[in-house]
Amino acid sequence: MSLLLAALLGYLSGSVPYGLLLSRMAGLGDIRTIGSGNIGATNVLRTGNKKVAAATLLLDALKGVVPVLLFGVIWGREAGLVAGVAAMLGHVFPIWLGFRGGKGVATGAGVLLAASWWLGLTCALIWLVMAKVTRISSASALTACGAAPLIAWLAGDSQLAVFALALALLIALRHHANIRRLLAGTEPRIGRKT
Ligand code: G3P
Repeated sequence: MSLLLAALLGYLSGSVPYGLLLSRMAGLGDIRTIGSGNIGATNVLRTGNKKVAAATLLLDALKGVVPVLLFGVIWGREAGLVAGVAAMLGHVFPIWLGFRGGKGVATGAGVLLAASWWLGLTCALIWLVMAKVTRISSASALTACGAAPLIAWLAGDSQLAVFALALALLIALRHHANIRRLLAGTEPRIGRKT
């Protein structure tokens, strides 16, 4: 019962589309009609509004952090991890947007950080180094989330490795268009529309 509740509330937390709500409130229009059409911070940044992009990043991450920590403390690690995967599913498949949501990078970062601070920080560092070198958000995210299960497995935490693998697969699945553009060399750099 506790796992089911953790999953349901985790999903609801993740399903709030902050990028869409904040861009609308800031008068930037429907973010789904701009750039890549994604509701995440990278695409909000393409509007040129850094504050709204930063707020989107923070809130999208927090909606992953809160359920993992909350249900982890109340019902134990397994419930926290279930709530984390559910928050990711909520962000990627939100009921409020006809199940067409975001790509899960900021929420995944929050979920990972809350589940394992050292793994979350290591992946954030990988993202930052990749972003500095490539200036491509999707390539940085795919590298960081791809490394996460491997690092957890090398550290001997198989439960965390399986959890990180689930997040990575979900993120990779949602980046199919980005992967196509990366292979074609047409993926836009951070902050640029094309
Ligand atoms: O955070 C999502 C990022 O990896 C890609 O976003 O808008 O470039 O498709 P976007």
